[in-house]
Amino acid sequence: MAEESRREGGGDGQDGLDYGSRMDPGLIESNWDEVVEKFDDMNLKEELLRGIYAYGFEKPSAIQQRAIIPCIKGHDVIAQAQSGTGKTATFAISILQTIDEKKQSCQALILAPTRELAQQIQKVVIALGDYQDILCHACIGGTNVRSDIAKLEQGQHVVVGTPGRVYDMINRNALDTRFIRMFVLDEADEMLSRGFKDQIYDVFRKMPSNTQVVLLSATMPMEVLDVTKRFMRDPVRILVKKEELTLEGIKQFYVQVEKEEWKLETLCDLYETLTITQAVIFVNTRRKVDWLTEKMHSRDFTVSSMHGDMEQKDRDIIMKEFRSGSSRVLITTDLLARGIDVQQVSLVINYDLPANRENYIHRIGRGGRFGRKGVAINFITRDDERMLKDIEVFYNTQVDEMPMNVADLI
Ligand SMILES: Nc1ncnc2c1ncn2[C@@H]1O[C@H](COP(=O)(O)OP(=O)(O)OP(=O)(O)O)[C@@H](O)[C@H]1O
Ligand SMILES: [Mg+2]
Repeated sequence: MAEESRREGGGDGQDGLDYGSRMDPGLIESNWDEVVEKFDDMNLKEELLRGIYAYGFEKPSAIQQRAIIPCIKGHDVIAQAQSGTGKTATFAISILQTIDEKKQSCQALILAPTRELAQQIQKVVIALGDYQDILCHACIGGTNVRSDIAKLEQGQHVVVGTPGRVYDMINRNALDTRFIRMFVLDEADEMLSRGFKDQIYDVFRKMPSNTQVVLLSATMPMEVLDVTKRFMRDPVRILVKKEELTLEGIKQFYVQVEKEEWKLETLCDLYETLTITQAVIFVNTRRKVDWLTEKMHSRDFTVSSMHGDMEQKDRDIIMKEFRSGSSRVLITTDLLARGIDVQQVSLVINYDLPANRENYIHRIGRGGRFGRKGVAINFITRDDERMLKDIEVFYNTQVDEMPMNVADLI
């Protein structure tokens, strides 16, 4: 079955590098400047407003101030905003506002690149919709197909899933697409990239012809914006310049390790720092996740690990432990580079640099959520120097040598 585990955003290291390969003429800009500074002024349903405040939100973030209204008005929307600035609630609120609760049909479909992200989004939709009669189901690979079908047959207002399983459910006539009015792609540039694009189109072709399309991501490379012309109608575009993508709150550093073999020692030296709050360590292959975890364990360091070859039930346990804070250091691949929101994460380590520069932004964005402090540390071998330079130039950002007192910055 075609499922997202085939691909981990380049995490299995087979994608090859694409640094510096693209032209970026910067032709596409925002075409919407209306701003609504309060949730109270958005004309939202009372129950939804209650849900928003009960969830702890007081004021909409910049992207929420701009993108919720055009989404509710029914425009096709491309919304780009920095990591951790509230894109999930942007589309969740828009969906919750436009759903007719009395109709027991699926009215909004959200696709995400990983099962963990789909599950996280489902939780946000349910929480914000707590005072509404909304059913939202996560339709993801690695779970029981029969119970998935049963859930869908109950009638779900909102379905959020990974492309493979969602497509499967449509083909089995378990997911009725006739009443879907909003089609959301979270991490849209990833969803429209090589590994996923055909699957997305397959699902998209099952939507009614008047379905509204909403795309969101922190990164929106030109070639993806080009692709969107094929299936979006006169979209509202709310875009951030790439130079504004790296967040002020996230300090970026490098450690010169000369050789690959010295990375392990460097990581062990940093272990105390890792556990100050919570940390995610990214490597580029599943095998290396296992290898590094093994090495750390043999030196008596407590770490947990996750990648796409693991059973879903084990993945669920690992995520649960990490979200609860009972595990503090997580070694993983690009499987967790995008979208995952664990507020306590303040340190991201690129044990390996990512294979594409978009994922650099996404990885470091796992820390410093919603304006919190964050630190990203890149392990740089001789061979990596050029890539790091490319990242600095492309995002017009500065990556300094890691200071001795890095722990004080977390
Ligand atoms: N208006 C708000 N007020 C307070 N907190 C908010 C608000 N909107 C979102 N948040 C919180 O900010 C955090 C990040 O939100 P979210 O995961 O939606 O970010 P994102 O923009 O999707 O980031 P990424 O690009 O990494 O996916 C979450 O913990 C969320 O609860
Ligand atoms: Mg997100």
